[in-house]
Amino acid sequence: MKILLFGANGQLGSAFQDLSKTDAFPVGWTLVGLSSKECDLSDESILAERLEREKSDLVINTAAYTAVDRAEKEQTLCDAINARAPAVMAAYCKAKGIPLIHYSTDYVYEGAQNCEHFEAEAPKPQNVYGASKARGDEAVVALGGEHLIFRTSWVFSHVGKNFVNTMLKLGAEQSELRVVEDQFGAPTYAPDLAEYSLHALMRGLEQKAVTGGFPSGVYHLTNSGVTNWADFARAITPATRIVGISSSEYPTGAKRPLNSRLSLEKFTKAFGVRPRPWQEALRVCLERLKDQNG
Ligand SMILES: NC(=O)c1ccc[n+]([C@@H]2O[C@H](COP(=O)([O-])OP(=O)(O)OC[C@H]3O[C@@H](n4cnc5c(N)ncnc54)[C@H](OP(=O)(O)O)[C@@H]3O)[C@@H](O)[C@H]2O)c1
Repeated sequence: MKILLFGANGQLGSAFQDLSKTDAFPVGWTLVGLSSKECDLSDESILAERLEREKSDLVINTAAYTAVDRAEKEQTLCDAINARAPAVMAAYCKAKGIPLIHYSTDYVYEGAQNCEHFEAEAPKPQNVYGASKARGDEAVVALGGEHLIFRTSWVFSHVGKNFVNTMLKLGAEQSELRVVEDQFGAPTYAPDLAEYSLHALMRGLEQKAVTGGFPSGVYHLTNSGVTNWADFARAITPATRIVGISSSEYPTGAKRPLNSRLSLEKFTKAFGVRPRPWQEALRVCLERLKDQNG
């Protein structure tokens, strides 16, 4: 079984590459990871040609235009990577009868209400990035092939640029930090996201072997629990004084949803596992960073 992975050098892509070298990865499966240099997803013809050439049995797309603020000024590029490329992948996968695993975001939701979002809720993105991801999801679903779309949130890892690394760096330089405390969501550890995705995929393939049906759909997939950015920062760097501020005191190019709580009920029911709490995952990440940095 050959798996083609887009976004191989990103947080999640790196986690998949690491996972493929462990015992958790099925024997006989190989993962071929591609970076943006090896296949530029903003060019539809390059992507289509690469898909044909690789002849994989499964496609995992972790690549995305993720510069949320810059996207406000680069809508065309953002749309090509986040909306058009997944549509091309989905069309290819459907034609070949192979599954596509694709990732989406809490930013597809408006986040105005004070309760969990469920997958059936209609997207109402508040920024260009969120709108491009919502269009990508819509295209994958509409094409009607076998797919798993995992909507995740607040991704962090021991590699790459993310909130954990930024807070550790700033916390080492400054005794006090001002961090937004009115946006709520679930931090998600990239290696956990890769592991739970693989678990769901295996369950899906087993189900298909028995019933003939693959559990295609949109699923929320984050670590469990909820927090806000200020409390997340306190957990990352407890020695630093974190002053909670409102979103309006920290203006950004793109508007963010205040409520990013995603219900894990559908994922848990479909695949028989509830992701572990974000605090446990953070502990593992901080230990790995400590080992890495000596
Ligand atoms: N990060 C978050 O907080 C967050 C939150 C919610 C949802 N998500 C979603 O989760 C998924 C994984 O995110 P992540 O945090 O792993 O993202 P990431 O670390 O920013 O990595 C994104 C990857 O996309 C690749 N990419 C960007 N433009 C490309 C292009 N034109 N052609 C090919 N590849 C391109 C990059 O490749 P190169 O490195 O090779 O340039 C990069 O490695 C994405 O779908 C994202 O939208 C992320």
